[in-house]
Amino acid sequence: MAEDSGVAAKRQDARAARDATGDASRDAAAGGGTPDATLAAESGSCVQTHYTRPVSIAVAGIGTSGTSIAFFDDRYLDPVCSGSRILLIHPTTREAYVALSGVCTHLCCDTTGGEGGPSYVATYPLPDGGVLQDVVHCSCHGALFSALDGSVVSGPGGNPLATGLEVLPTCEGAGFVFVDIPARPA
Ligand code: FES
Repeated sequence: MAEDSGVAAKRQDARAARDATGDASRDAAAGGGTPDATLAAESGSCVQTHYTRPVSIAVAGIGTSGTSIAFFDDRYLDPVCSGSRILLIHPTTREAYVALSGVCTHLCCDTTGGEGGPSYVATYPLPDGGVLQDVVHCSCHGALFSALDGSVVSGPGGNPLATGLEVLPTCEGAGFVFVDIPARPA
């Protein structure tokens, strides 16, 4: 599929915004920081590599179900928009943590520049009075994704959307969630 010029421009804007924002503030927001192999060893099961992002469950405030945190990690490039925002979710309907790309696959909103973007919603009310549990809602144009697997629930304005949010592997141990970031060339 030919790349939309608007999407390409968004990618450039996102890169510029990332360059203008320090990693330290992003790390602080996520309760993450420099990968520490000791933590992985203590967890007994999580394998940590250079591309693993440890997130402190306590510092990030994601110890209870129905919570989430969003952060940027410049090692991550999502496959649609080349954005670096990640959503780490503690769902209400699944025991395990879920990490998803935090960049909308519609027009690449990722909250930079105050534009809005995807965020986790534990209970999402529907116009017919029903509710959806564990979804990701994009505030730019209303796309909905599953918070469990990133699949498209509904596209913007109810129109089809071909691509969901990428899922990143996670492992929990030693009070941390370790998010594995796919290594990709910039
Ligand atoms: S950018 Fe997310 S719905 Fe349009």
